[in-house]
Amino acid sequence: MAEDFTPPISQMQSTTLTDDSIQFENFSRRVLIKNIVGRPDGGVGLAGKKVTVGGWVKTGREQGKGTFAFLEVNDGSCPANLQVLVDASVSPLGDLVPTGTCVLVEGELKKPPTGTKQNVELRVCKVLEVGPVDPVKYPLPKTKLTLEFLRDVVHLRPRTNTISAVARIRNALAYATHTFFQKNGFLYVQTPIITTSDCEGAGEMFQVTTLCTDAEKVERELKQNPPPTEAEIEAAKLLVKDKGGMVADLKSAKASKEELDASLSELKNAKENLSRLEERSKLKCGIPQKDGKIDYTQDFFARQAFLTVSGQLQVETFACALSSVYTFGPTFRAEHSHTSRHLAEFWMVEPEIAFANLEDDMNCAEAYVKFLCQWLLDNCLDDMEFMVKNFDKTAIDRLKLVSSSPFERISYTEAVKLLQNVTEKKFENNVEWGIDLASEHERYLTEVIFKKPVIVYNYPKKIKAFYMKVNDDEKTVAAMDVLVPKVGELIGGSQREERYDVIVKRIQEMELPLEPYEWYLDLRRYGTVKHSGFGLGFERMVLFATGIDNIRDVIPFPRYPGRADL
Ligand code: 4AD
Ligand code: MG
Repeated sequence: MAEDFTPPISQMQSTTLTDDSIQFENFSRRVLIKNIVGRPDGGVGLAGKKVTVGGWVKTGREQGKGTFAFLEVNDGSCPANLQVLVDASVSPLGDLVPTGTCVLVEGELKKPPTGTKQNVELRVCKVLEVGPVDPVKYPLPKTKLTLEFLRDVVHLRPRTNTISAVARIRNALAYATHTFFQKNGFLYVQTPIITTSDCEGAGEMFQVTTLCTDAEKVERELKQNPPPTEAEIEAAKLLVKDKGGMVADLKSAKASKEELDASLSELKNAKENLSRLEERSKLKCGIPQKDGKIDYTQDFFARQAFLTVSGQLQVETFACALSSVYTFGPTFRAEHSHTSRHLAEFWMVEPEIAFANLEDDMNCAEAYVKFLCQWLLDNCLDDMEFMVKNFDKTAIDRLKLVSSSPFERISYTEAVKLLQNVTEKKFENNVEWGIDLASEHERYLTEVIFKKPVIVYNYPKKIKAFYMKVNDDEKTVAAMDVLVPKVGELIGGSQREERYDVIVKRIQEMELPLEPYEWYLDLRRYGTVKHSGFGLGFERMVLFATGIDNIRDVIPFPRYPGRADL
């Protein structure tokens, strides 16, 4: 992880600043390092200007026998650092040089002596703020750190060059996503995270329940305050009876209003006490049961609920009213996959288009992926250069290739034939018509046979979800997967089954309960429309763009079996 990586000026993101004007931040009193060293002139045109700069010290070294120090400061706005020079007369240097120290400094930009690699450096006149670091304890040593090591310090890893570059690329892809769909007339719909329907019908959902927390609360409470004994309840009942008797006596003796009121109030207290004791006596440890099963009517939503595996079913309700829509949010899958392509929590971009068939869907997917690639070339070249230098030499070439050449489109049946004819490689999983293509097959198609993105369509209906449109052959469905080099499956989508009878039959065939899908079936009962959509795994797109090997390193806070830090 080249901690002192400084890209040449030509690779920097260009800003509109070519003269000597300085762009100050709107919401923090400083100048972004990007707006100094990221200028087309590398910041030379700003020599002589006074600026305030903040950031974290990447490397710091005292020089001239401790008379001054050089700090390489990075504020996360771009991959490049700003060289900062501090004189010992300005501030104690020992506090500034440890890696990880935060500094806010004011100074003058100067052109350094010729022969140095910097175009401009900051001579500090005032150290405004310091966030110190004890170098002995700092969890991120200055040595080359592996991405595996960094997964144990997810809270500090954004300080590294790699994770910050990935964060900027990820941010750019999110911005590009909204730009693409907004430009094409799609409406952004926020679909729920908590759901009661299983979109993929695969049963790999995380359950959302308060039954366990409720049970623990009762357990704690009963420990602190044990339930009433039978005798205590009997005594309380007797008291109610006594007090009731007293009220009756006073009434028949025509007692004064004050006396009667006082007695009635005692009766009320005795009744309240009894009902409290009776309620407490009903408290039981454990999960509520009914007829030998967990009683979900007592759960928070009065029924079983889950974290969504996909926003598709819900976004379809808007597509069937507003035509072109998309959702972009977190999705959750409780599959025990330990691969470098699977997360338990990942983000998905899911457009849904009314009056669109499978071909329209493929066209949209291809245009969207191309747009993302071109966007990174146009807006993130400095970070992409970093990836090329440190992770994947072909990352930029891949973006160029994908953004400019048409994707291959082949049917599942053709894909199987091609794979069956492969002789130079032995696959771990045998290929025959009807199998779900394994990652090794998908990657072989896109990386070896076609050497570019491939869209495989018309999959066997047996291996695909219930909502996909059944083709006329009755054996396949109008599904499509976009496969890309480095990653394999990037997108999964389909034309949706819009025929009521057919979709009901499909749900039954797959032995799924009809009841949770009744609302979904209404979309076919009333004003049904041909429609199509797909889901792009956002982290898989970041993997594809950056060339990073493991999906756990391209999401800010990875969740996978056995691991959910922070
Ligand atoms: O193919 P999938 O399962 O499709 C759906 O969920 C559809 N409901 C989408 C739709 O039509 N609206 O998932 C879509 C994509 C996959 O192609 C893959 O890129 C990604 O989501 N994906 C995962 N990414 C990371 N970790 C996982 N466990 C993933 N599972 C799927
Ligand atoms: Mg899929």
